[in-house]
Amino acid sequence: TSTSSVIAGLPKAELHLHIEGTLEPALVRQLASRNKIPIPAAISSLTSTSSGYTFNDLTSFLAVYYPNMAVLLTSTDFSDMAYAYLTKAHSQNVVHAEIFFDPQAHTSRGVPFSTVLAGLRQAIIKAERELGMSASLIMCFLRDMSPEFAMATLTEALPYKDYIVGVGLDSDERQNPPAKFAAVFARARQEGWLVTCHCDIDQQDSIEHIRQVLTEIQVDRIDHGTNIIEDPSLVQLVKERGIGLTCCPVSNSVVTEDFKGKEILQLLRTGVKVTVNSDDPAYFRGYMNENLTKMAEETDITREEIVQLQRNAFEVAWISERKREGFL
Ligand code: HPA
Ligand code: ZN
Repeated sequence: TSTSSVIAGLPKAELHLHIEGTLEPALVRQLASRNKIPIPAAISSLTSTSSGYTFNDLTSFLAVYYPNMAVLLTSTDFSDMAYAYLTKAHSQNVVHAEIFFDPQAHTSRGVPFSTVLAGLRQAIIKAERELGMSASLIMCFLRDMSPEFAMATLTEALPYKDYIVGVGLDSDERQNPPAKFAAVFARARQEGWLVTCHCDIDQQDSIEHIRQVLTEIQVDRIDHGTNIIEDPSLVQLVKERGIGLTCCPVSNSVVTEDFKGKEILQLLRTGVKVTVNSDDPAYFRGYMNENLTKMAEETDITREEIVQLQRNAFEVAWISERKREGFL
């Protein structure tokens, strides 16, 4: 059997996936038309011959990502978006997905929190029933907005606590260190939520941010975090604590010059619980299989190690021990 059929056949868990990053251009057009609003500029400028968007860093990606969300207005819009992703993931043998969502990107435009959550929940329930998939929600705070807005969002989410497995931190990392949100994450932990934070690739203060999430925020996982390789003492710390790193090679290759395959593989071989995920697949042009294929084609990763990446994902997934045993 070829490596690509090994990858396709493996039951997979996806742990780093922004649901708003699954909005394919065709769906943006469809929702714009349904809601009778203009097609966002980044979409209308895409030609039928181009392969998609071009970005050169996180900021230029976010400058397209947020405006496209204008087409998301009703709970049906959120449900259609999430169900399209879940169907695609299911076609790649993803059996469990932990899905980030950015409520502030919607409430700041006047879309109620309850509308966002109802739509996403509806899609997850449908995927469980019709596709036999398992999925959960992780609420992310936008780090380029204020800690006060994050705290207000946390409070707004409390009535829906059981529908959200944990909280995260995303958006523009430049000059927005994790410590800015220490009180928000302390409250989230008190409320019983699990905690993760983005430590994006090659940020100005990557190592300091990784140190903060490990020592001041007390995260359960780190999203990206690949730069940890530069600090052996922090590598030792995540190994000791069994903290998972949710790496995204295709995303890395789009927002930086380097997909970080060498570093991801080195961390895996050191015994860190590294996983491979798709991040924003509609924008970076790669779902789970494409991310694993990139690792297979561009590094000397073995088939056993590809299987290990998926074992890691089930090991660090935020699921009950009973469910974990069922997957492993
Ligand atoms: N990094 C930070 N914020 C994000 C990302 C990312 O890769 N994707 C969506 N929001
Ligand atoms: Zn991300």
